[in-house]
Amino acid sequence: MNNILVTGGTGFIGSHTCVELLEAGYNVIVMDNLSNSKEESINRIKTITGRDLKFYKADMLNISEMEQIFEENQIDAVIHFAGLKAVGESVAKPVEYYNNNITGTLNLIDVMRRHSCSTFVFSSSATVYGVTNKAPYTEDMPTSATNPYGYTKVMIEQILRDVCVADPSWSVVALRYFNPIGAHHSGLIGENPNGIPNNLIPYIAQVALGKLEKLSVYGNDYPTPDGTGVRDYIHVADLAKGHVYALRYAFEHKNFEPVNLGTGKGSSVLEIVNAYEKACSKEIKRAFAPRRAGDIAVSFADASKAKKLFGWQAQSTVEQMCEDSWNFTIKNPEGL
Ligand code: NAD
Ligand code: UD1
Repeated sequence: MNNILVTGGTGFIGSHTCVELLEAGYNVIVMDNLSNSKEESINRIKTITGRDLKFYKADMLNISEMEQIFEENQIDAVIHFAGLKAVGESVAKPVEYYNNNITGTLNLIDVMRRHSCSTFVFSSSATVYGVTNKAPYTEDMPTSATNPYGYTKVMIEQILRDVCVADPSWSVVALRYFNPIGAHHSGLIGENPNGIPNNLIPYIAQVALGKLEKLSVYGNDYPTPDGTGVRDYIHVADLAKGHVYALRYAFEHKNFEPVNLGTGKGSSVLEIVNAYEKACSKEIKRAFAPRRAGDIAVSFADASKAKKLFGWQAQSTVEQMCEDSWNFTIKNPEGL
């Protein structure tokens, strides 16, 4: 079976994808510098799957560390999750974000070229749809960004597009994730943010645990049915499965292909709060607050391309996503 290098494989989405890859029979080699995750993820992935996987603590900014991985393993394809992802932090530290995400990806591509590895699945984001396109987003819409994090995704997509033009042996699928939430059903792996969370579900989880007092609902005057922001929340396990489908597609087709991974359905902040209250059987205290800078009213995918190209579509409901998030949270109140 093929050997897949998973960069960022101890992180939130990477760890769930390792589970799906191992369960689909692939051999997995993980590379991560552990800047935003724990090596304990590897033990948990082994427990869930009953399979072994290799782990390298290595940094994309260190070419010789990546060279060593490619020398010691015959890598058939790369799934590239590694990157910094906090929007606010990227505004404060643009150079660190551009360097880590872009230089790191260029280093990885360079090492892949030297080892004749040209099959690549990239973690892009719905953030590339910017603020002027209107949902549902289709992959042919123009891309743009409003912050350095978003620009790293736009720029890396462009780099990969150019690599595919220059060398027709390359095959790249850029997966544009909508809002991944939830956790593996076992409760062994899940989202593990450092410090006070920025994203909705990790914040709600901390309120439910009693670690934070109340949720600020950013804006109740959006042009949406209940006035709060609408997003396309997707179960991380569904998202992870989408990578296995994308990988199969990438092995069989050449060229650059951007593909949305979303459910195609939007939920408001208040709908998510209600679903989470049911899942944890607690009240989630909340208060309306001003809109958060940079937020848009509505974001959801046109999910038809993934279905057409890969035969993949998301399965889980928002209720299941909240139940699995809560299951992980109560089993790991201090994270991994
Ligand atoms: P995460 O932070 O949990 O995982 C990213 C991993 O990359 C971490 O384990 C981190 O230690 C590692 N990493 C960072 N810089 C590295 C470097 N220089 N060398 C080696 N490893 C490095 O994040 P996630 O939520 O799992 O996201 C994975 C990818 O998906 C990221 O590229 C992110 O931008 C993208 N994405 C995430 C979301 C989301 O909501 N979580 C949405 C859209 C896109
Ligand atoms: C955010 C990022 C986006 C990134 C995505 C996944 C911003 C502006 N956007 O998207 O670039 O790709 O995370 O990492 O940061 N909300 C509250 N209270 C909170 C937190 C969130 O009301 O404490 C609301 C938001 O206003 C939004 C919704 O919940 O309407 C979802 O927010 P969030 O989980 O942060 O995701 P996005 O803003 O969609």
